[in-house]
Amino acid sequence: METASSQGQSNDLAEDRTAAQRYMIRVNGVLHNVKNEDPRMCLAEYLRSSLHLCGTKTMCYEGGCGCCVVVLEYDNPAKPEKRIIKSMNSCLFPIGSLLSLKNHQVITVEALGSVKKGLHPIQQRLADYNGSQCGFCSPGFVMQMFGHASLWMGSLLPDHTHLTDPMLSTLEGGGSGQHLHL
Ligand code: FES
Repeated sequence: METASSQGQSNDLAEDRTAAQRYMIRVNGVLHNVKNEDPRMCLAEYLRSSLHLCGTKTMCYEGGCGCCVVVLEYDNPAKPEKRIIKSMNSCLFPIGSLLSLKNHQVITVEALGSVKKGLHPIQQRLADYNGSQCGFCSPGFVMQMFGHASLWMGSLLPDHTHLTDPMLSTLEGGGSGQHLHL
């Protein structure tokens, strides 16, 4: 039989769970709790310093150089059947803003490919045609092209990266019928 204290405890747990979910952001298919982070911290800084995803570079911190570009996707409140996919400068985007975007996901260059895992076709093309100079900003260029290509052709994430997040089911086909290969 459930006692008042155990019921109180389970209510607390439910509240904790809800609160925890409220502060989750999804990066490359994995949920991260940002409750203890400063919501004004820019996404680029969070990716690099907290998640150690250093493929996203930073330089100007004012939206000018493009080396920090990542791709963001989320449900379109006006057209639930179509998700919004856009590339954006992560140096200008505070992590707190992600929390209001339904079923959002941040995709960084790590989700696309690497020399070890195999290059994404966009990365391969850049390498084949000498599209880099020093290479520092190349991940940003790749993500910019990936965002545009995904916008027109649907998500172009490679099959070889796998989601560990059980909440993926809410994203699979989430409104658009489009399957996210992460
Ligand atoms: S660091 Fe230059 S555009 Fe973000």
